[in-house]
Amino acid sequence: MDSILHGTPDSLRIKQVEEQFSALRSSVICAFNQLLDLKDLNTGVHSTRLAEWGMRVGQELGLEEPELQNLEVAALLHDIGKVGIPDSILKKPGRLDEDEYALMKKHPEYGWAVLRMLPGFERAALHILHHHENFDGKGYPAGLKEQEIPLVSRIVSVTDAFDAMAIRRLILASGTQFDPVVVQCFLSFAQAEMATVFAAAGTSVSSAL
Ligand SMILES: [Fe+2]
Repeated sequence: MDSILHGTPDSLRIKQVEEQFSALRSSVICAFNQLLDLKDLNTGVHSTRLAEWGMRVGQELGLEEPELQNLEVAALLHDIGKVGIPDSILKKPGRLDEDEYALMKKHPEYGWAVLRMLPGFERAALHILHHHENFDGKGYPAGLKEQEIPLVSRIVSVTDAFDAMAIRRLILASGTQFDPVVVQCFLSFAQAEMATVFAAAGTSVSSAL
């Protein structure tokens, strides 16, 4: 009663803080995405789609707030650490050599190192750190397996791989199931978006072609 008579009700104040935090979260995502654009990483559409799919999977698997919000952040910014990878590696047209691949594999740690410093982004940073772990324990950086890997990281990993796998499937079936001219045409503009996905896997669209 006091708070209603002499100031803002607690519930309203909490709502205001939540709204402020939500706006801050959006601004940070937006700023980091612009950083990826400056690095010419063009992950916009890929990341947005990843976030939408990831949220649907997360809801289906019973994730609740605030973990769903962490999932959205992790999906949108999973490759932010690539800002720390040299262009000579990120944009290399052919297959990466061993040393280059070792450096490329640092991007989850780089992303974690930056995002964990932002209050409210600690969990999402952890999910980003583990987005290249494999269910069988053969991924990186920590070699976690099965339930040791955070569920959000497992979700981001699946949706992230989907685009790359779809492209590989098209290439494999070009000339048999699919018209090679149509495949080539489609890939010519899908290529820009897919380049980052292939790069993360240590290969590239052009070498796959
Ligand atoms: Fe990645």
